[in-house]
Amino acid sequence: MSDKSSNQMWGGRFAAGPDAIMEAINASIGFDKRLAAQDIAGSRAHAAMLAATGIISDSDAETIREGLLTVLSEIESGNFAFSTALEDIHMNVEARLKEVVGEPAGRLHTARSRNDQVATDFKLWVRDQFDAFESGLLALIRALVDQAEAGAEWVMPGFTHLQTAQPVTWGHHMMAYVEMFARDLSRARDARARMNESPLGAAALAGTGFAIDRHMTAEALGFARPAANSLDAVSDRDFALEFLSTASICAMHLSRFAEELVIWSSAQFRFVALSDRFSTGSSIMPQKKNPDAAELIRAKIGRIFGANVALMTVMKGLPLAYSKDMQEDKEQVFDAADNLMLALAAMEGMVKDMTANVANLEAAAAAGFSTATDLADWLVRETGLPFREAHHVTGALVAMAEKKGCDLPDLTLAEMQTVSGAITEGIHDVLGVHNSVASRLSYGGTAPVRVREQVARWKEILA
Ligand code: ARG
Repeated sequence: MSDKSSNQMWGGRFAAGPDAIMEAINASIGFDKRLAAQDIAGSRAHAAMLAATGIISDSDAETIREGLLTVLSEIESGNFAFSTALEDIHMNVEARLKEVVGEPAGRLHTARSRNDQVATDFKLWVRDQFDAFESGLLALIRALVDQAEAGAEWVMPGFTHLQTAQPVTWGHHMMAYVEMFARDLSRARDARARMNESPLGAAALAGTGFAIDRHMTAEALGFARPAANSLDAVSDRDFALEFLSTASICAMHLSRFAEELVIWSSAQFRFVALSDRFSTGSSIMPQKKNPDAAELIRAKIGRIFGANVALMTVMKGLPLAYSKDMQEDKEQVFDAADNLMLALAAMEGMVKDMTANVANLEAAAAAGFSTATDLADWLVRETGLPFREAHHVTGALVAMAEKKGCDLPDLTLAEMQTVSGAITEGIHDVLGVHNSVASRLSYGGTAPVRVREQVARWKEILA
């Protein structure tokens, strides 16, 4: 028998307990208690399988499975004393099970190790996050499609270099984000399907001599199949990395949109009004309404990127199979997942509530010679000028308007004809912003009819 103070789970070869500092650096219970429900689900599946394969008795399995439910309800109701000396959630649960059911508890850990146990628990947790990620994305996409439908015809400036480029429609701009978040959705679904293999039964690293049934536990836990290689099963954290990398790309999209909302809601732009529900005031400047939710979304993205880099760094030098380094996989993923879900929900709320200032959008769309390309295209179509020359002529007209301090449509025909004799009155038809967007009928273009087609396609997908 080992010394009293050595660990009750693995203390057989130890004469003394750990140093306090060792306990502090070693324990993960402070954070991995979040895996309690997954740990208990995994253990219940394992116990049922041990009985079905005749490795433990049916009555022991029943006792264990019932006892685990008691432990779960204690944890869920907050009546559980987590112990740092017991290191992690696995040993906390098992130790309490022993207190609750006695001797049969000691049979639960047959044919498994904490290595396959933690991989299983964490996978189940991350799998739930992929599902929450998917619901969050779908809700956001729905809100964007609704905005696009409402404003399929509203004209706004399209930017490159944040300089007015060509008029686009509000609906087209919203649908651009739909495409981005739809790719995030597709990446999340891919990753979820790829990660859905059960590590349970890989044991410490080599498999086990007990005649276990890994297909049975895999199925009980909703996995598509057991992972094929025991070494890989216990040392793989790709599922967490894929969660973080898909989350990072989505976070980057959220941040870009947040940045646009910050710009659009400023007094200089006044493209949108964000709702009071997603803004805050200033304690000193009474006129202020700040887009804090957008700013915080933009900022939270850093911790998601950071988690991705941190876990890549944890994993990059590890020899097969398990190393304790891998205990550092969880906190960052927890934090990234929490903040991703919050950012998605906040963005959905802002998009649902925001009001486009249609008149300002249209006025801004007309400024900055935004229909210069339409003018050049007209010269090509109507006068047969090569595009390069049409570009040159248009440039001269823009310079003329700039000098006069007016917009392109304000130039008279006579003035235009001093630059090119080929110009006729018909040119004025293409200089308005509504004509401009309506003409951009190419597949994927900004014309309201094209936007409505995309909205309809998405509504069907979402139905
Ligand atoms: N708390 C550990 C972790 O999160 C569980 C696995 C411990 N395995 C071991 N061989 N020490 O990784």
